[in-house]
Amino acid sequence: MSDPLPALCARFRERFGVEPSAVVRAPGRVNLIGEHTDYNDLPVLPMALQRELRLALRPRRDARVVLCNLDPTFGPRNFELAPAIEPFPQGDWGNYAKAAAQILARECGVQRGFDALIEGDVPPAAGLSSSSALSVACGLACAHANELAVEPLVFADLMARGERYVGTHSGGMDQAICLNARADHALRIAFHPLRVEAVPLPSSWRFVVAHSLVLADKSGAAREAYNSRRAQCAAALREMLAVPEVAAAGASYPELLERLGAERLGWIAAQRLEGVLLQRFRHQISEGMRVARARQALIAGDAETFGQLMDESHASLALDYEVSHPELDRLVELARCHGALGARLTGAGFGGCAVALARQADAERVVAGLRREFYAARAVPAALAEPVLVARASAGASVQLWRPAHARIEPAATDRAERGEGAR
Ligand code: GLA
Repeated sequence: MSDPLPALCARFRERFGVEPSAVVRAPGRVNLIGEHTDYNDLPVLPMALQRELRLALRPRRDARVVLCNLDPTFGPRNFELAPAIEPFPQGDWGNYAKAAAQILARECGVQRGFDALIEGDVPPAAGLSSSSALSVACGLACAHANELAVEPLVFADLMARGERYVGTHSGGMDQAICLNARADHALRIAFHPLRVEAVPLPSSWRFVVAHSLVLADKSGAAREAYNSRRAQCAAALREMLAVPEVAAAGASYPELLERLGAERLGWIAAQRLEGVLLQRFRHQISEGMRVARARQALIAGDAETFGQLMDESHASLALDYEVSHPELDRLVELARCHGALGARLTGAGFGGCAVALARQADAERVVAGLRREFYAARAVPAALAEPVLVARASAGASVQLWRPAHARIEPAATDRAERGEGAR
């Protein structure tokens, strides 16, 4: 694929009349396993995608942030950088930029705004973290404009806290993978304190990511469903801590899982909790165990076990956590029928994407099967371009200084003459 940056920078020049000074790239992600556990501080295992958001920018002299998007669905937005920024209406894309700007103004004292032109190919509301790619890109742009250098783990934590501005009480997975991802690796992310371990992906494994065509907008309808899951997990934990044996073991999900073990914890939960709280708790502890086993399977190159854990994760998310959707269930089932070793919904659910593990030799069969039996019968929106892709584990977000080609220093005529070029 040709480098998309020169064209983006040319459009910036047309729009703002000057060259951009830098370009930020922030990838989307696919979570391989460990779903809805980050906000309970239980580890997760995502990787960054080749799909990314790109932002060309130039610092301004004042505190204004001016955002333009090459996608006309996202109209221009601008606002003043300040420690308390009034949000745009709920669901507005500009709130992700405000989220990043406000926390950097509050906690790092940034004052200088910037002009930005944005483009990207992470589909929105697909569970691939387009929104965190946007807030991370805006955060990095703001840091660049203010000559602020922040270590990626610290920056990820800032961005995760900042993003709650939009009203979703998310965990920290998306920002952590976006900023710390490594090409050809998955990242095991643990929380509180935030830490990451890059685990190499076996070269013969392929992750197929397929869109259910059902939008799951975290800043829209899925927001309440998401927040209520988090509240139910907190309520379940409170209930469990009323049991002296549990309280003696710790106060958080990771502590209880580590000190009591999944079996004992599950047994106590079955006595103490009921209904939705029991279901939510069961998902947390079973998914916590699956992430640990999936990490081992990944290190051992054991694709069968990894696939089986993905299947179990999907069942738990569908039945105990109730965040699947019939179209996601269908995708998962079809992927398995066409040669995947395991499949599950990825991201917050309620729609969005599924991810399936296949061996290299079978990946195209899975893709073709989904095209034939899922997409052929459904109307795929033109904006989605390609609803199924084979993921390539990519590097994390970066800021690169922009030097336009015509500003490159040409060798002087005399030098060229000496080397025998030109002046014939
Ligand atoms: C969203 C949130 C994440 C995480 C996932 C579900 O992507 O932003 O923090 O909770 O859902 O695993």
